[in-house]
Amino acid sequence: MRAQDFLTVRDLSREEILETFVIALDMKANRSKYADALKGKALALIFEKPSLRTRTTFDIGIQQLGGYSLYLSPAEISLGKRESVHDVAKNLERMVQGIMIRTFAHQVVIDMAKHASVPIINGLTDYSHPCQAMADFLTIQEKKGELKGLKVCYVGDGNNVAHSLMFAGARLGAHVTVACPPGFEPNLTAYKDASEDARATGARIEVVHDPAVGVKNADVIYTDVWASMGQETEADARKKIFRPYQVNGDLMAKAKKDALFMHCLPAHRGDEVTDEVVDSPQSVVFDEAENRLHAQKAIMYQLMK
Ligand code: CP
Ligand code: NVA
Repeated sequence: MRAQDFLTVRDLSREEILETFVIALDMKANRSKYADALKGKALALIFEKPSLRTRTTFDIGIQQLGGYSLYLSPAEISLGKRESVHDVAKNLERMVQGIMIRTFAHQVVIDMAKHASVPIINGLTDYSHPCQAMADFLTIQEKKGELKGLKVCYVGDGNNVAHSLMFAGARLGAHVTVACPPGFEPNLTAYKDASEDARATGARIEVVHDPAVGVKNADVIYTDVWASMGQETEADARKKIFRPYQVNGDLMAKAKKDALFMHCLPAHRGDEVTDEVVDSPQSVVFDEAENRLHAQKAIMYQLMK
């Protein structure tokens, strides 16, 4: 991996993503082989938003590699308020060998990477969630084999998760269709960047407003919450707008028969997805959650070794 930080899937080439998957799968199959891979190395975990999966998988993951982690809650650091991003970076680089950050503005992870001499890993910003997309495409590869030419349809809000899926699909040659209500399209820069990357691999990145059109011939149906962390006040208004975008049995029936159902979790059952779908045999949501561990271990290993 040439990149020194992992801020977006676009930091990695197609070959680097596939190599990361190879390492992740080896770690999954042969955990003890890597028990000392990052022996004695410390990873700071900065969280400005809640988490189950990200916190657990980074914490357990670094320990499985022989290192250890330090959890820093929003109350502790108060990034940019109690202390500037610059000063936090300059302190932490003296103490730890890597920093994972979950925050709001994407600029914060960019600034941290600029100022800190140790690797920065993006654990979710308002713009992107690259570790999630790596775990997701690793999961798709495990279930479907070849990624090139597959069609992933993301149904819902054109948010951080949608952006990272577009970036990963573009790199890997998988078509990504975002089916969203008008006004909730992916960020234009993200769409343009993904479309440009897609030209090299033959992937098609598209945005549609009719979910039934979007899921046609899809190999994967993906959804996420309608209101992301930080958008809680919009939740009620969004519920009305997004109702036609619920992934339920009827919508799944319009995709390929063997389509996977995916969700980054946490799921709001009864809103963006029904119990019937999330608990169906087509659902791989907990495989995705587990693969966060393996994908992130492979990323930490390459950046911090
Ligand atoms: N999918 C995901 O990032 O989950 P958490 O918010 O629980 O970390
Ligand atoms: N889009 C969601 C993803 C949570 C993992 C959010 O940002 O809250």
